[in-house]
Amino acid sequence: MSSELLFTDRVVIITGAGGGLGRVYALEFAKRGAKVVVNDLGTSSSGEGNNAKAADKVVNEIKAAGGQAVANYDSVEDGEKIAQTALNAFGRIDIVINNAGILRDVSFGKMTDQDWDLVYRVHVKGAYKLTRACWNHMRDNKYGRIIMTSSAAGLYGNFGQANYSSMKLALVGLSNTLSQEGKARNINVNAIAPVAGSRMTESVMPPEILQMMKPEFVVPLVLYLCHESTTESGSIFEVGAGWVSKVRFQRSAGVHNGNITPESIRDSWSQIESFDNPQYPTNATESVSGILSAVNNKPTTGPVLVKPTKPAASA
Ligand code: NAI
Repeated sequence: MSSELLFTDRVVIITGAGGGLGRVYALEFAKRGAKVVVNDLGTSSSGEGNNAKAADKVVNEIKAAGGQAVANYDSVEDGEKIAQTALNAFGRIDIVINNAGILRDVSFGKMTDQDWDLVYRVHVKGAYKLTRACWNHMRDNKYGRIIMTSSAAGLYGNFGQANYSSMKLALVGLSNTLSQEGKARNINVNAIAPVAGSRMTESVMPPEILQMMKPEFVVPLVLYLCHESTTESGSIFEVGAGWVSKVRFQRSAGVHNGNITPESIRDSWSQIESFDNPQYPTNATESVSGILSAVNNKPTTGPVLVKPTKPAASA
């Protein structure tokens, strides 16, 4: 078990690889033999401007160390162009790391449509466009490894990040479904929620914490998940500072009542929210079959709703 995980001649696309986490993924993949497409639009943290230098710098670093890399300066919204860069330069696509990201943090009452749309376009639409552009190619090759970059803000919510947390959880949904669609074609898809010192977090973390949270600590999990020997798919991981943890959805065993009413909900609330006998559905079929087996154990007479005492206001 001591053999090194190598990526010899694997072609990997990494978005937002001009800095932060993306840069260190790119350097490590290249060091281990991969051919890397370093994508970066070169924007500010809030998505303004563009600069080709960001990607060029990382490509030069990789080449100076003897690795193979090519730059791409398109926005992730133009995923087809990024995929084409990989195909033109290296002739195939094996691994996609959807990593590019921006922040437009603001409390919900002050959020503008632009704050919402821009964060959607970079995180969700960008990951969709690039992954879609690579998907059929991976299906035809019967091989693919894909990472979606979520966030603790998406999994748990965070003040001032209604836009960002919505998009980050959307990426978990995308990862979950693609892992199921990709299963028969050896395409593994996982989501990570990293924590790392970068320009994105330098204003919210003190220097000593930033030092502990080097992006390099996130890299090993991403490389492990993307290796050809790894079968893990459809999972969510939190990772940072050398700590790695798997996250899953848990639900209570629930309560079935064929005569369900608001009052029966009230009366059985402690059972509804009891996690004494938890269940862990891993897909929608398991979720529904769990409900059906609970229902099948007891006859259902249908929900009983109280009739409104006043006529409903006309629409
Ligand atoms: P960063 O700001 O250092 O790097 C993001 C890169 O994405 C930048 O180089 C930027 O130019 C690029 N980019 C932005 N919009 C782009 C677009 N439309 N097309 C192509 N490139 C674009 O940020 P960091 O910290 O490295 O974050 C990487 C990912 O990890 C992001 O998705 C972020 O949301 C996520 N993340 C980071 C956390 C952290 O603690 N640093 C926490 C949770 C999630």
